[in-house]
Amino acid sequence: MTSDSESKPQTDMPSFVSTLKSCKHIIAVAGAGLSAASGIPTFRGAGGLWRKYDAITLATPQAFKENPSRVWQFYHYRREKALAAQPNPGHLALAMCSVPSIREKILPGASFTLITQNVDGLSRRALDQIAEMHPELAEEIRSPVVQDSLLEMHGRLFDVVCTSSKCGHREHNLDSPVCPALAGTENVFAQNQPEPHIDVADLPKCKKCGSLARPGVVWFGEIPWHLRDIDVEVRKADLCIVVGTSSKVYPAAGYASEVQARGGKVAVFNVDRSDGDQRADFLFLGPSESTLPKALGLQDDTE
Ligand code: OAD
Ligand code: ZN
Repeated sequence: MTSDSESKPQTDMPSFVSTLKSCKHIIAVAGAGLSAASGIPTFRGAGGLWRKYDAITLATPQAFKENPSRVWQFYHYRREKALAAQPNPGHLALAMCSVPSIREKILPGASFTLITQNVDGLSRRALDQIAEMHPELAEEIRSPVVQDSLLEMHGRLFDVVCTSSKCGHREHNLDSPVCPALAGTENVFAQNQPEPHIDVADLPKCKKCGSLARPGVVWFGEIPWHLRDIDVEVRKADLCIVVGTSSKVYPAAGYASEVQARGGKVAVFNVDRSDGDQRADFLFLGPSESTLPKALGLQDDTE
C-alpha cells in the first residue's frame, strides 16, 4: 500500500532522459515482467505461476529431492514456453545498451550492466538478434565484454546440470523435449492438471556420468550466481533501472536501495505498483516493452 503523502517519484520522460545522460555507471535489474510481452508467465503478477502453484513444491532443492518428476515437468513446461518465445522490444533496448558501439551513441561515456533474474535466455537471444541485424557488430557482441555484462543471477533454463557432487557436469541444452519421457507433459502446468509420474530412470541424465540431471537454475535456498560481479557493479552504479520485477526476492530486490544509499538514482519500469517504487526517483507505470525503448530513446531502432 502506498499513500499520497509519501514522496512522489518523477514520472516525466524528459527529466529521466537528462538524468540518464549524466550517469556514468548504469545497472538494470530485470524480472519476469520484462519477458511478459514475449508470452512468458510471471510469478506474482496477474496470471503468475506462484498464484497457481506453491513455489516450495517446485523451486527448491527439497522439492527436487522429493519429486524430481514433478519438478522436471515444471521446468520442461517453462523451457518449451521460452523456446517458443521471441525477445521483445524491452529485451532489445537493454541489449542495445550492452553493446559499447551502440551505447556510445545513446549513453555516451557510461558503462552498462544487465542483472537479470530471468532464466529464459531472452536477453542473450536479444544480443544474438542484434548481431544478426547488424553483422558488422557480430564480433563485438560475441566478445566477453558484452557477453559478461549480462549477469543471469538465477541461472539458465537451458543449462542441465549433473546432480552428482563428484561430477557436476553442466551443459547448454536446447533439446525439445529435454528427454523423450517429458514430451507432452508441458500441458500439466499449462492447464493445471495432475501430473503423471515419470520414473527417475527416464528423467534427464548427465551425459558424462549418467546420474540424474537437474535444471541449471537457482532455486530458493541456493546462492545466486555472479554475486561478486554484481556487488562491484551495484557499488559503482549511479543509476539503477528496475524493470518488470515485483522486488520481493532478495538479493535482487535490495540493489535499488543500495544504489540510492550511495547517492545514485533509481528508475522503476513496471506495469503495476511494486515494492519500494514509492521511494524511486523515477516511476514509469506501463508495459516495459514500450516504456523502456522510449525512455532510452530507442523506440525507432527496436521496432
Ligand atoms: P514477479 O512475478 O514477482 O514480478 C513480475 C513483475 O512484473 C510484477 O511486478 C508485474 O507487475 C510486472 N509486469 C508484468 N508484466 C509487465 C510488463 N509487460 N512490463 C513491465 N512490468 C510487468 O517476478 P520477479 O520479480 O522476476 O525466482 O520474481 C523474482 C524471482 O521470484 C524469480 O526470478 C523467481 C521467482 O520465484 C526463483 O524461482 C528462484
Ligand atoms: Zn555427471
